[in-house]
Amino acid sequence: MTIKWYPGHMSKALEQISELVRKIDVIIEVLDARLPFSSSNHLLEQVRRNKPCIKVLNKNDLADPAVTRAWVQHFQKASGVRALPLVAKNIPEAKNLVKLIKQVCPNRGNPGYPIRTMVVGIPNVGKSTLINTLAGKSIAKVGDKPAVTLKPQQIDLRNGILLFDTPGLLWPVMDDQGGAYRLAASGAIGANALDYTNVGVFAAAYMMRRYPELLKERYKLDELPELPYEMVEAVGRCLGCLMTGGVVDVHRAAETFLRELRAGKAGRISFEEPGTPADIEAELLKM
Ligand code: G4P
Repeated sequence: MTIKWYPGHMSKALEQISELVRKIDVIIEVLDARLPFSSSNHLLEQVRRNKPCIKVLNKNDLADPAVTRAWVQHFQKASGVRALPLVAKNIPEAKNLVKLIKQVCPNRGNPGYPIRTMVVGIPNVGKSTLINTLAGKSIAKVGDKPAVTLKPQQIDLRNGILLFDTPGLLWPVMDDQGGAYRLAASGAIGANALDYTNVGVFAAAYMMRRYPELLKERYKLDELPELPYEMVEAVGRCLGCLMTGGVVDVHRAAETFLRELRAGKAGRISFEEPGTPADIEAELLKM
């Protein structure tokens, strides 16, 4: 199995973000609330230039609230870092972010002295969705623009905040195989990077350990099977992913299972392994 990986892109992106950081007052780092650590890029710390950083734990509607709370507390222990769970399309929640930006930069935000900010994060965490909500209109994604980009435009949010319109694209640092699988299970890594069946079996094993009751309820099971592969088969049987002769189409079952988990059909779940955030972070940064 191959994981498609782009270290070249990553160092280039970090260089560009580092340059932009000079001109801005606060960094908004968008994370997937279901994966507060695995969806972050800890190299950002090296290019932050001690600027204040707000970690937005987006997709909070899909994440396990207890896990999100623990990570918010953990992140806020770091100097200059604030953390805010939200749902990017939700206007009142985006307004809370605006309030927090103003709290973090109390000396700017007046006429002639706007707060300059930029949004960074790995693909698929909801950067564009958040920018659109903040701007109150649809802004083209960086990837949708012609290759030759002129000087980065800024969006005036008309509330004392200027937003760089180019979301700073980071890549996740996947030092451990588990991180790659967690990202794939949540949908942050595309379908081509890892095999659906493997990711589905990984997700089944994880769900059996962490959220057995949600599995039983969603897939109408009195007891869970012993093996994760059998769990994927059980999902396939429940959802009718069958081939001729009634045999479960495991690939299709895994794909459907992942789609369900990503959409929150089984309930609000987080994909970060159990343990305190401090333990997880220390363990993964050692790798
Ligand atoms: P990106 O710029 O960081 O790459 O992410 P983008 O905003 O494109 O969002 C990626 C996907 O995540 C989109 O779904 C988007 O709707 C969804 N999303 C963003 N924020 C939230 C959130 O707070 N909660 C939930 N549940 N979903 C969120 P998509 O299926 O790829 O596109 P679409 O069909 O919704 O347009």
